Amino acid sequence: MSGLVVAMDGPSGSGKSSASRGVARALGLRYLDTGAMYRAITWWMLQQGVDLADPAAIAARAGEPVLVMTTDPDAPGVTVGGVDVNGPIRGPEVTGAVSAVSAVPEVRRRLVALQQEIIAASLPEGGIVVEGRDTGTVVAPDAPVKIYLTASADARARRRTAELIGTAAETTVETQKADMARRDTLDSTRKADPLAMAADAIELDTTPLTLDDVIAEVLRLVKERA
Ligand code: DC
Repeated sequence: MSGLVVAMDGPSGSGKSSASRGVARALGLRYLDTGAMYRAITWWMLQQGVDLADPAAIAARAGEPVLVMTTDPDAPGVTVGGVDVNGPIRGPEVTGAVSAVSAVPEVRRRLVALQQEIIAASLPEGGIVVEGRDTGTVVAPDAPVKIYLTASADARARRRTAELIGTAAETTVETQKADMARRDTLDSTRKADPLAMAADAIELDTTPLTLDDVIAEVLRLVKERA
């Protein structure tokens, strides 16, 4: 089976969603947002009233929700049990709870298996750009192109705050910066698949770059590596 897999990892606000979609569009590939999957399963746990302070309670229900991902880079999306959750998964309730849910090994095992199925299904159609935290290390360790996007804490908080203007989750740069720092610490110190850069990933600091610059640089790296 041929097909290209591009792994795009990095913390939130590093610009990886917009860059990943732009790269997928330019190369005619599918696009998978793995963070949306962790958010969707978190939304479902909240709906079900699962005690998110109890990892065993989360683990016991991890196999239940039925997630369906749309991998069109122009209209990516996720449903849980047939419900479109693209709005609510970006809200503060899910954002505040997602680190606790994504730290549970049973949740990760289930979602990683699902991600690997989606990647395999994309290969006959040309391949996929997969964005997340652990795609270069765990989900697709054999991906020929692995990029790790970073940006300064200020740039990340500024970008995410701008994205949230006019939504129910509107916030300030300072609040956003504190929330990101809290989630970064949780995500990078958890026992199961902590956020880390793959040894063979190329680190790209997007702080001084425009979105078009980032896409152009990733496309150049794909051409060089793949
Ligand atoms: O990229 P994002 O902010 O939408 O991700 C939401 C959360 O999901 C983030 O706090 C970490 C977690 N996550 C993860 O653990 N592994 C992934 N591959 C993607 C996201």
